[in-house]
Amino acid sequence: MNTDRKICSHNRLESLLWRAWFSSSLSLVLVSLHVIIRASLAGDDKSMAGVTKIEIRDVEHVYHSDFSSVSALGNVNLAVHDGEFVALLGPSGCGKSSLLRVVAELLRPTAGSVVIHSSSEKENGRPKTALVFQEYALFPWRTVLDNVAFPLEMRGVPRHEGLTRARDVLARVGLQPFARAYPHQLSGGMRQRVGIARALAAEPEVLLMDEPFGALDAQTRTVLQEELLRVWESERKTVLYVTHSIDEAVYLADRIVLLTARPGRIKAEYLVDLPRPRSMEMRGWNSYTKLSLEIWDALRDEVDMAMVSEKP
Ligand SMILES: Nc1ncnc2c1ncn2[C@@H]1O[C@H](COP(=O)(O)OP(=O)(O)OP(=O)(O)O)[C@@H](O)[C@H]1O
Ligand SMILES: [Mg+2]
Repeated sequence: MNTDRKICSHNRLESLLWRAWFSSSLSLVLVSLHVIIRASLAGDDKSMAGVTKIEIRDVEHVYHSDFSSVSALGNVNLAVHDGEFVALLGPSGCGKSSLLRVVAELLRPTAGSVVIHSSSEKENGRPKTALVFQEYALFPWRTVLDNVAFPLEMRGVPRHEGLTRARDVLARVGLQPFARAYPHQLSGGMRQRVGIARALAAEPEVLLMDEPFGALDAQTRTVLQEELLRVWESERKTVLYVTHSIDEAVYLADRIVLLTARPGRIKAEYLVDLPRPRSMEMRGWNSYTKLSLEIWDALRDEVDMAMVSEKP
């Protein structure tokens, strides 16, 4: 009983430290590992392809401050299938991050709603969503292994079991040899892999990624895209992935959703008709280039519009 209480207060203390660390940090990063009750085993997802997993209905969002209001999202409707990889593209400031935060339940929309359909009635505390940001948002005082085990600890998974699962996920992203290292001892790419491992360890029903490789150099980014695809192909988790890169969207996604300039609305959707597993040489295919150019044609107008509307 005492031990339980100690663990509990230790977790609370760490949770407070965690919050303090984030709020004092200059980076605008947050981690959200949203613990929700209804859940299912990861393997169940594979049999659910074609079933709607994320339902975004009539979502609008307006940010209000003392002096002004900013209309960030205007009537977004989108259904993402179970096991589908959907990329969100749009000009800077069009509301992509806001939409992801709405799906993660970190932001309550001004209007509309989001439903994440559980694939099973089984309740095991598995979170509905896990969010991976561009910034690494790791706890500097924790080892790689303990960072990855964090969401499991928060969920009350026994420590031994949590560490075993965390080791397993680290092996999947090729970081097992660095389990005892601290974040400052890793390269940027490795830190981002730890961030992805932590999100996967939480076994979310849906993985939300907001420009996860945006801060990395081109080579590391290419390697991590391939790693992400390898892990995704083995798990077929539902992914909503925000990027500025048309090339990245075409390489990774099943479907690309293009948002207009602010307030973001869905302007167009593109099915990526490339076989899986994807490979580097596909980037040289005519169909790849044709699709990329088609998307750029549509995106360019929105980028121009966003730049005009930002001028004083
Ligand atoms: N907390 C906030 N308060 C007020 N306005 C906000 C807030 N967060 C975002 N905004 C505004 O809402 C709009 C959409 O922002 P958001 O971050 O969702 O865009 P984005 O598409 O992710 O942009 P980027 O591609 O640059 O990351 C922007 O005009 C932004 O200034
Ligand atoms: Mg953003």
